[in-house]
Amino acid sequence: MTQVSLEELAKSAANCDRCELCRSRANVVFGEGDPETPMLLIGEGPGETEDATGRPFVGRAGALLDKALLENKIQRKHVYITNIIKCRATLVENGRVQNRPPRVDEINACRDWLLQQIGLIKPLVIVCIGGPSAKLLIHPTFAMTREHGVFFDTPYCPGGITAVLHPAYILRMQGNAFEQNYRYLVDDIAKARRRVIDIRKGTVQPPPAAKPEPPEELTLF
Ligand code: URA
Repeated sequence: MTQVSLEELAKSAANCDRCELCRSRANVVFGEGDPETPMLLIGEGPGETEDATGRPFVGRAGALLDKALLENKIQRKHVYITNIIKCRATLVENGRVQNRPPRVDEINACRDWLLQQIGLIKPLVIVCIGGPSAKLLIHPTFAMTREHGVFFDTPYCPGGITAVLHPAYILRMQGNAFEQNYRYLVDDIAKARRRVIDIRKGTVQPPPAAKPEPPEELTLF
């Protein structure tokens, strides 16, 4: 069977009705960037601005992520950015529509889009942005405070997988806490960049156990 391209996959995903989020979304936020990038970044799910524009990480959190990438001399167009769910998850609180974390059934319904993206992009390293992505793709009890910036072997790519603090979480901080946590974000992206460089130079060997095909099932908890 001929393999579909990322563009074709995005077209199919645009009509996805695998979960209820299809009824409330304005746009499917499939992902964007360089389809041949060595670095794939995977966040939690689209927020309001992402839903309105159909693009990932374009709100305030996205601006902070862009800044942290640029501090590492990485432009957005050099990486690929997506999320574990492609449609905005919301709840209504005090009459206002708010973002909410994705539910396990929504993540599972969306899983195949993500696995196909990983399979087509074939990144060297994966960077999870925030806890939900890390819990899903690294291990279910992932603790961001202890484990951010640590590289784990993964079946999803040869160079390993790591996680960084979510920029939306950092934006809720002020003063020294903001500075410290933003620094973690920049430094952890630097580690991922270094890892790509080292693998390309052959100074770090991909783990021997790495398998090219991701497993069928992902679980959140
Ligand atoms: N937060 C995410 O996790 N993803 C986005 O695309 C935007 C904000």
